[in-house]
Amino acid sequence: MRTYVVTGGAGFIGSNYIHYMFKKYGDEIRIINVDKLTYAGNLENLKDVENRDNYTFIKADVCDAEAINKIFEENDVQRVVHFAAESHVDRSIKNPTVFVETNVLGTLVMLNAAKAAWELPDGTFKPDHKFLHVSTDEVYGSLSNPNDYFYETTKYDPHSPYSASKASSDFMVKAFMDTYKFPANITNCSNNYGPYQFPEKLIPLTINNALHGRKLPIYGDGKNIRDWLYVEDHAKGIDMVQEKGRLFETYNIGGHNERQNIQIVKTIIKTLQELLPDDDPRKANVSEDLITYVTDRKGHDRRYAIAPDKIKAEVGWYPETCFEDGIKKTVKWYLEHQEWMDHCISGDYQKYYDDMYKNR
Ligand code: NAD
Ligand code: DAU
Repeated sequence: MRTYVVTGGAGFIGSNYIHYMFKKYGDEIRIINVDKLTYAGNLENLKDVENRDNYTFIKADVCDAEAINKIFEENDVQRVVHFAAESHVDRSIKNPTVFVETNVLGTLVMLNAAKAAWELPDGTFKPDHKFLHVSTDEVYGSLSNPNDYFYETTKYDPHSPYSASKASSDFMVKAFMDTYKFPANITNCSNNYGPYQFPEKLIPLTINNALHGRKLPIYGDGKNIRDWLYVEDHAKGIDMVQEKGRLFETYNIGGHNERQNIQIVKTIIKTLQELLPDDDPRKANVSEDLITYVTDRKGHDRRYAIAPDKIKAEVGWYPETCFEDGIKKTVKWYLEHQEWMDHCISGDYQKYYDDMYKNR
């Protein structure tokens, strides 16, 4: 039975990945989920797998070398899928330090631990042991020419503290591959959406605010473009890269689905109006009148767009979920999981919201 260490598995993409992997492999694999449970980590995301015999949760910080080394000493880990990160651009603008700690130092700790566990006396590595570093398209910066796309060969040009920290972590993984021939891959993915996304990000924040009749904050002119991918497609892409991709390679993953932020928000409003039954009192709240243009994000990247040609040609992956279906499924999921959302927005969330949006 192959053992996976999944870091950040209690977050948005990590938990969707764990669900995907158990759906695909059932009892053929074992997953050890290593997560510090920051504000973004939520074990409720994994309620339906927590009692499986082939699932273990370990609360640990990826920066804690002792705790991470112990996991590798006590288990024959064959796969690492490294999601754990501080992931929100706006938070990185307010407090960059923790982004460097978790995203850069934490990645180095993971690399060191896997290298120590997998390296053989002759400097080669145990066969069929692999590390996958989950990264972002934001490392490539912002596209100004509408005909340009991010390729694996595009020069790194990060702008926010978040993307700079992810770029640094990518370079550390590249350094391990180049220096030690450490068996790894990097994936750089575009914006994900779907179930279990914390409501600091555009799509769940918009859904939640609209249901409460709160303003829908649009940064700047609302015409910034993101390339949206349904999260399960990302999970599938990660697994396919790890099993079918060439070692030491980077693969870009994207949805071929560019939208302006204002289009996303209007689509959510329309979808909520369609899905909410007439007798639901929240329906009356949902209206385009809630849209409010607010001060732009500092250093706001204008456009991201991935060319997923390499992953398609080499691995056979393509985005399966079209945006119209994906956004319907997503809005429906949030409507059916109001309690999950209520737990997210209790506690520190209100303070975060006031810090970020009050007087904006
Ligand atoms: P998230 O913020 O929802 O989840 C991050 C998880 O990491 C949380 O469970 C958190 O508790 C955990 N974590 C944070 N610091 C930790 C630490 N020091 N030690 C252990 N665990 C820690 O993030 P996400 O949106 O699921 O993103 C996951 C990964 O995918 C990140 O590396 C991110 O850069 C990358 N990514 C995200 C997107 C996106 O659209 N969300 C797109 C491309 C790539
Ligand atoms: O591109 C991949 C990246 O996508 C990931 O690496 C990041 O982890 C992930 O958070 C996401 O980053 P973005 O900054 O693109 O996502 P966010 O949901 O924060 O914002 C999407 C767009 O919407 C962006 O142009 C900013 C805008 N926005 C966001 C919020 C939260 C608003 O206009 N209003 C808002 O309130």
